[in-house]
Amino acid sequence: MAQINPSILSADFARLAEEAKAVEGADWLHVDVMDNHFVPNLTLGVPVVESLRKATDIPLDCHLMIEDPDRWAPAYVEAGAGSVTFHAEAAAAPVRLAREIRAMGARASMALKPATPIEPYEDLLPELDMLLVMTVEPGFGGQAFLDIMLPKIRRTRKLIERYGLPLWLQVDGGVSAATIERCAEAGADVFVAGSAVYSADDPAAAVAALRERAER
Ligand code: DX5
Ligand code: ZN
Repeated sequence: MAQINPSILSADFARLAEEAKAVEGADWLHVDVMDNHFVPNLTLGVPVVESLRKATDIPLDCHLMIEDPDRWAPAYVEAGAGSVTFHAEAAAAPVRLAREIRAMGARASMALKPATPIEPYEDLLPELDMLLVMTVEPGFGGQAFLDIMLPKIRRTRKLIERYGLPLWLQVDGGVSAATIERCAEAGADVFVAGSAVYSADDPAAAVAALRERAER
């Protein structure tokens, strides 16, 4: 079953509560946290996640594009995130961090930038609930999908199967009606979509259309 996670990065930040309600039927709300250091862009932090938690029933999928996630990730679980994704390139102690996130009651997830291979992290997979393969360079919405990431999605799916793990495989960046089938065919099962959902006249219908294509 495909999960569709709209990214509020493409929403109107002055109307986040309404924008969260506009994607009813979505599985998770994808919340992009950027610190202007790990990526060249700045978005939101813990207080906004706390407020969003109160404003919507959709579980929050927090994607931390920040330096020192070892220090900051637990605060996002406390703020109400149901899933917290840290970047492999930024975490000093990914196993310890994943265990801490899980012990606090959230799903632990690790993200890979386009140039980061999955293979060095193979042994960490049992510590994770989800792996995020970025299909753009993180930092901005509305970028073109990187087709060259499809082999990495395929290799990651094979590893997950080889280990027999219940891990979810998320893709994020440039996911749209035009690219989601390729991602699904390569083995992704959780799809983040920002501009494809929020630039649509009817965001909830866009979510349904993406789901239909992913499950074809
Ligand atoms: C990019 C973010 C994405 C972004 C995706 O760094 O991690 O979640 O919102 O936006 P689209 O779907 O427009 O590529
Ligand atoms: Zn993201």
